[in-house]
Amino acid sequence: MRIRQITAILLVFIIIFACEDQITSECDDEEVEYIMPAQFSAIQDVIFNERCITCHSGSAPTGNLNLSSATSYLQLMSKNLIVPGNSSLSTLYQKLNSTNPNSVMPPTGKIEQGLIDSVAAWIDKGAPNN
Ligand code: HEC
Repeated sequence: MRIRQITAILLVFIIIFACEDQITSECDDEEVEYIMPAQFSAIQDVIFNERCITCHSGSAPTGNLNLSSATSYLQLMSKNLIVPGNSSLSTLYQKLNSTNPNSVMPPTGKIEQGLIDSVAAWIDKGAPNN
């Protein structure tokens, strides 16, 4: 009788701890996934402002490309660095997704793939200034 009770209690604990473990690892997975809306304002805030404007801003921006918020959209469009509706033909996406260390942007190496995928999704839906 005793052994049965103890076994039952142990089982309950094992189930509780097993579930807790699962929940924790699910949370961890979500933390390493970088999710960003496929929206230009998010690209500006999360990518350009954080990773690009140290070089691409000011009166003499590197590569003659100014990615600060006042100019980025216009510059990307007027320099044909984006082909609305076609991410794979878009220089911006090619540079972000490049495996070539001489061409990738930023030059220190690719940013998180989830962010790059959001840029592709935004371009593929027509690259609106949203
Ligand atoms: C350490 C400085 C530096 C940082 C940071 C940087 N870039 Fe660049 N970028 C350059 C240089 C230098 C060039 C010109 C040479 C080239 O095209 O590779 C350039 C060129 C480019 C071009 C091509 C412009 C053209 O007219 O062909 C794009 C697009 C670009 N960068 C996007 C970005 C994006 C997006 C980021 C942030 C994710 C970024 N860069 C971060 C230095 C930088």
